[in-house]
Amino acid sequence: MDTLVSLSKRRGFVFQSSEIYGGAGSVWDYGPLGVELKSNIKRVWWRDFVQRRPDMVGIDASILMHPTVWKASGHLDHFTDPMVDCRECKLRFRADHVDALPWTHYCPATKGNKFTIPAGEPCSHCGARRTLCPDCGKGELTAPRQFNLMFKTFMGPVEEDASIAYLRPETAQAMFVNFENVLQSMRLKLPFGIAQAGRSFRNEITPGNFIFRTREFEQMEIEYFVNPNDRVDGRPADEHWHDRWIEDCLAWFRRYGLAEDSLRLREHGKDELSHYSKRTVDIDYRFPIGWSELMGIANRTDFDLKQHAKWSGKSLTYFDEERKEHVVPYVVEPAAGLDRALLAFMADAYREEEVRGEKRVVLRFHPELAPVKVAVLPLLKKRDDIVRTARAIRDELARQWRVVYDDTAAIGRLYRRQDEVGTPYCVTVDVQTVGDTDKGESADGKVTIRDRDSMEQIRVPADRLGAVFGDLLGGQNWAEAAARVGRG
Ligand code: GAP
Repeated sequence: MDTLVSLSKRRGFVFQSSEIYGGAGSVWDYGPLGVELKSNIKRVWWRDFVQRRPDMVGIDASILMHPTVWKASGHLDHFTDPMVDCRECKLRFRADHVDALPWTHYCPATKGNKFTIPAGEPCSHCGARRTLCPDCGKGELTAPRQFNLMFKTFMGPVEEDASIAYLRPETAQAMFVNFENVLQSMRLKLPFGIAQAGRSFRNEITPGNFIFRTREFEQMEIEYFVNPNDRVDGRPADEHWHDRWIEDCLAWFRRYGLAEDSLRLREHGKDELSHYSKRTVDIDYRFPIGWSELMGIANRTDFDLKQHAKWSGKSLTYFDEERKEHVVPYVVEPAAGLDRALLAFMADAYREEEVRGEKRVVLRFHPELAPVKVAVLPLLKKRDDIVRTARAIRDELARQWRVVYDDTAAIGRLYRRQDEVGTPYCVTVDVQTVGDTDKGESADGKVTIRDRDSMEQIRVPADRLGAVFGDLLGGQNWAEAAARVGRG
């Protein structure tokens, strides 16, 4: 994780928020490459799950909602974590996380020497187990108290109870609250889904692990409404669609590069299920911190629509033409975190390789996710004609893709820089491209394309670059593209 944090800062992926003031608690800023990577993940998710599917539509709702939304959803009453405070140093911990922390111990068997003991283990000198604050090792911890994770604010000019509002802790509720609007305006038939990608806020007690758990983050959520009276392949429709969404989401993460053996499904135990859930399955990823949740896929039944109908007094039903009856749809909810997906894609893409006795750091991003698609590099920056041609190629390609020009180092160094940020292709303009009149050598108009992963190179007429990158960035693999160019 430290390697990723440092690469992220050095190469402009992720910076600590308000760093010049010492940083703000567990919020992060995406830099020039991070913002490209993040928007590519979001765009591909939207394209695959919304744009390409006839049964999906999207919305973009506001972060501030009517406060009763959170009463109806259960967040005001249930969205809490148990916390304990140290009476001495005043640090606050999640009660269920304390035992997973290494702890500070002043050991009586060694004249009070201070030790840091691994989580869950006793002191090897005196055999004591942790009873005090794991951080200062001196204070007693309070009994657990429930702490609501929603950020509170005020709407309007008066700071009073009547104007309390909350920053949404999930994007999901807007899909339920807009169910009727979307159903009527788009004339939809069950099953159908509403998607949204946007910011959520949680005042997490123990955030951390870089962008894995933060207080402000983005979610990509889908609420997929199904008729609970329908059956598909002999099974209740909600159960069928739940399994379908689990498969589709898993396949999506694999398609964009996450290794098969770094992904697993984890079924929630009955005691762990959220108050609204009939069944929840997490897709876990083997993060640098160990196996942890990447996304969850829950069967929320008709809980939310019924709750909002009850609290708003509006009917939130669907008219089943076939059975001539109103039904409250069931909801299957694939809920992913964008920041967590980005961390997983980055961790999976990161490789350290040895090339001709030197270390090469490379981010093997899927080309669709890579922040920069092509880097155009002049072999000699002193030759005006080479620089002019390279810049013109960059400008032309940049009409379609994120393409950069760089002439600030020798070619080997420039390649390494692009490898380290995951740029799948480099284009090099050299003397042969433009010719050398002094030596009587004519221009061949060809440039070199270098593939990041194989480091192979092919020579291509500069005026065919648009078509070649159209193929390569559109999904054609390098070997096929190279063979096609070879065939002319
Ligand atoms: N609507 C259901 C819901 O919000 P969740 O499991 O609490 O479910 C869904 O959140 C996803 O959002 C998680 O799997 C995770 O990827 C992401 N997420 C949740 N809390 C987060 C946090 N504090 N920081 C970063 N990502 C978070």
